[in-house]
Amino acid sequence: VLERSYNTEAQKHSQRSYSYVQPHASYKVAILGAAGGIGQPLALLIKMSPLVSALNLYDIANVKGVAADLSHCNTPSQVADYTGESELANCLKDVDVVVIPAGVPSKPGITRDDLFNINANIVKTLVEAVAYNCPDAFIHIISNPVNSTVPIAAEVLKQKGVYDPKKLFGVTTLDVVRANTFVAQKKNLKLIDVDVPVVGAHAGITILPLLSKTKPSVAFTDEEVEELTVRIQNAGTEVVEAKAGAGSATLSMAYAAARFVESSLRALDGDSDVYECSYVQSDLTELPFFASRIKLGRNGVEAVISSELQGLTEFEQKALEALKPELKASIEKGVAFVQKQP
Ligand code: NAD
Ligand code: LMR
Repeated sequence: VLERSYNTEAQKHSQRSYSYVQPHASYKVAILGAAGGIGQPLALLIKMSPLVSALNLYDIANVKGVAADLSHCNTPSQVADYTGESELANCLKDVDVVVIPAGVPSKPGITRDDLFNINANIVKTLVEAVAYNCPDAFIHIISNPVNSTVPIAAEVLKQKGVYDPKKLFGVTTLDVVRANTFVAQKKNLKLIDVDVPVVGAHAGITILPLLSKTKPSVAFTDEEVEELTVRIQNAGTEVVEAKAGAGSATLSMAYAAARFVESSLRALDGDSDVYECSYVQSDLTELPFFASRIKLGRNGVEAVISSELQGLTEFEQKALEALKPELKASIEKGVAFVQKQP
């Protein structure tokens, strides 16, 4: 009797946990750079998604152990590991969303732009493989400098004849996550309700939080606006300095990237109410790429939301004009990197 009741309990438990994580859809996600500081916690968070049926992990090193470890979690997705260039094509087969956090991170005294020399080539090579193997996938670029790596990816996709600007995203979700956190702390608001749009791009002054558009509506003094804006712009450096040589933000970044993946999967699954900020091809300004709120749909960017750039405060308008030359240069650097190659 005891044994039977144990069995029944075990069965009930396994049924309960199974039904709790029963997938309502089955999307395939690949992470390129999956064994890194961002890649590992991001893989764990994606492994918890009920929308994912296959999670393909690629890295040039150490990915086997990460995949073996994760594969023991009793959530629906199947985890597979791929390593070395010869396995990249298989990793990308039939994938719906590709997330790219491959590359070197910052250290104290090293800016995102300093990472260009190493990461530009890594992103170029990985996006070439995406172009050949899953040209219809949503591509989420995390590798820095995002302001240049997204234009690099676009140029590569153009060269391969498969560029769909609606499906290429620079991940700027961490800027929104930080802005929401800092504003909620400063103004003593319930965190879950706070939503601050962050536009521009993802480095220093190109990160522009639109505090005047914060929801719920909240009044800031000029000093608060100045202080919060600078903190949001330098939040990456805050983490880089605290880690003192051990890298940049990984856990908060994984959290933010997982949110962006989940939003993309919900959009692919037909949810018609999915909005995120992201750095995408855009005609909101004279710059070819610009981060703003977008509406996500089955085919990627369904709309770039222009309303939040209207009625800016004088501070925001000035900051917007001030970021343009730097962002323009970063975009041109990325484009030139691909175009000058034989
Ligand atoms: P990390 O060094 O811990 O991990 C990077 C991983 O990439 C490593 O496992 C490495 O083996 C792998 N890798 C290197 N070359 C590769 C290649 N050719 N193919 C596949 N994998 C390769 O670094 P991290 O902390 O995970 O950061 C990764 C990147 O993300 C950095 O460029 C960092 O600046 C950037 N980042 C972006 C944001 C953002 O908001 N967009 C935030 C934080 C960090
Ligand atoms: C971040 O915003 O944390 C990252 O882009 C890493 C960095 O170099 O600041």
